Formats: sequence, C-alpha cells, structure tokens
Amino acid sequence: MRRSKIQIQDLNMEYGKNNKVVVDDVQMEFVERRKVPRSEKDQGKKQGDKVEVLKSITLNIYEGEFVCILGPSGCGKSTLLKIIAGFIQPTSGVITIDGHRVTGPRPNNIFVFQEGGLFPWLTVYENVALGIRHLATEEEKQERVYEYLEMVDLLGFENHYPHMLSGGMKQRAEIARALAVKPEILYMDEPFSGLDFLTRLHLREELINMHLYIQKTILFVTHDIDEAIQLADRLIVLSDRPSEVKMNYEIKEAHPRDINTGELRSIRQQLYLSLGVHYTL
Ligand SMILES: Nc1ncnc2c1ncn2[C@@H]1O[C@H](COP(=O)(O)OP(=O)(O)OP(=O)(O)O)[C@@H](O)[C@H]1O
Ligand SMILES: [Mg+2]
Repeated sequence: MRRSKIQIQDLNMEYGKNNKVVVDDVQMEFVERRKVPRSEKDQGKKQGDKVEVLKSITLNIYEGEFVCILGPSGCGKSTLLKIIAGFIQPTSGVITIDGHRVTGPRPNNIFVFQEGGLFPWLTVYENVALGIRHLATEEEKQERVYEYLEMVDLLGFENHYPHMLSGGMKQRAEIARALAVKPEILYMDEPFSGLDFLTRLHLREELINMHLYIQKTILFVTHDIDEAIQLADRLIVLSDRPSEVKMNYEIKEAHPRDINTGELRSIRQQLYLSLGVHYTL
C-alpha cells in the first residue's frame, strides 16, 4: 500500500478559534435568463422564472477547520462555495473572510473539482507550476513544485502528461497544484466522486495528513456521509432547496477515526436519517 509522507497520528488539533469565514444570512435566487425581457418593449413577455436556492444560510467557520458540506443534490452546495469564494454575488446577505467583506473573486481562491481540471497539454510539473509562475525565481518555483509533488507522492511523475496518470494520480496532481499556490482557503467540490472506492479511501487518508501539514481551512462538498465523518472537523448539512442549515456539528474525535463506534456511529445514523435513508444503513 502506498505510504504518504506524513502519517496519520493524533490529529486532534486545537484551533485558535479565530473566525475565518462568516456567512451571515445569505440568500440566493437565480433568475432564468432566457425568459427575462431584453428591452422595455418586451415588458409584456413573461418574466424570468426564479429559483430560490439558498433560503437563509448563516455559518461561522474557524481558521484551519476542515468543513464538510453535505446535502441533497441540487440544494445549493456548489452555489454556496462559489458565493463564499466571491465568484457569484448572493441576492442578499454578507460573507466575510478574515473580517473583510467578500465582494468578488480573490487571486488565491483555489478550487479542486471532480477529475478533469489539469491542462492536458502541460506536464504534471508545468500544471503545478502554472499557478505560481509569478514567484520570483525559477529555483523558488522549482522548490515549491517539488515540495507539493512530494507531499502528494508524485515525485518521478513530473514529466508525465495527465493522460499518462491514473484517476487518483490526476486528483493528487490537482491537489498539489492547488496547494502550491498556498491558498487562504481550499475549496473542494466533490473532488473524489469520479474515483474508484479504494482510491477514494486512500485519498481520504492522504487528505487528512495534508490538512495536518498545511493547516489551512478546507471547504469540502461531498455526497458521501462516511467520507464527511472521516474528514470533517465540522459537518454542515443543508436541507432541500431552498436550503437552510439543517445540522452544524463539530466533530472533535481524533484521527484515525472508527466511524462505526460510539459518537461517530450515532452521528452517522443521524446523518443518514436526516438525508432520508432508513433501511440500508
Ligand atoms: N448559474 C445558474 N443559473 C441558474 N440556476 C442555477 C445556476 N447555478 C445553479 N443553479 C440552480 O441552483 C440549484 C443549486 O445548484 P447547485 O449546483 O449549487 O447544487 P448542488 O447542491 O451543488 O447539487 P449537486 O449535489 O447535484 O452538485 C439548482 O437548481 C441549479 O439548477
Ligand atoms: Mg454541486
């Protein structure tokens, strides 16, 4: 079995409890653009249909927390991430990061999505180096790229192109690329959902280790309840659309975690029940 650079130990980190992200009564309503009147003459036409996605979201996320966001499909998880990152403006409500109001995207907002984010015409090295091309010297750049390639166990693959990598390796390269930028917050939107079961489990373990190493705030959207319980310092469960926060749960259990015993087992059951699963636990 692969061994990552840092081993899981007692990761029961105590954070400073400084607020990193504050989401204050955020609402989001999308308007169906195709039906919006294009001019005043069009006024007689039907107005664009509105989709109320986020009803009212209020959250406090602490510096360095690993936050997992769960919720039914279409409830607005990706939308919430994009709003926090400043890519889209909410209809109302305020987001602050480190006490500053978010008004638009910031340069070191890094997203890791499901597989497919690497540029196929660039090597692994070039992909990771892309985000840090502004760094002063070639040596600094090289050092940074190798630091993160080592962290995700991809040393030796730096000259490979993405099509020469397995799905799990591609995801690790993407994570290295994101972390090399030293993002203030790492946004991960179902990053492992395209991978096979075992690869997912390995990457989960590696991500726990990486989090210990980088100690950055991670906002991680997943559909996988077990994955969320394994990873999260804080679990946020959203309701159906228009969504509200249904559960906001801090998990203090140290890693490695056995999710089938004690408190974690009961959280797991509660989560399945709250997402409508009753018999297949
Ligand atoms: N740019 C947009 N314009 C109009 N509607 C949108 C837009 N983006 C998202 N929506 C709508 O908002 C709702 C929430 O979408 P979102 O992608 O945030 O859900 P999600 O919880 O991430 O879903 P999934 O679990 O399937 O990824 C959906 O009904 C979607 O159609
Ligand atoms: Mg989504």
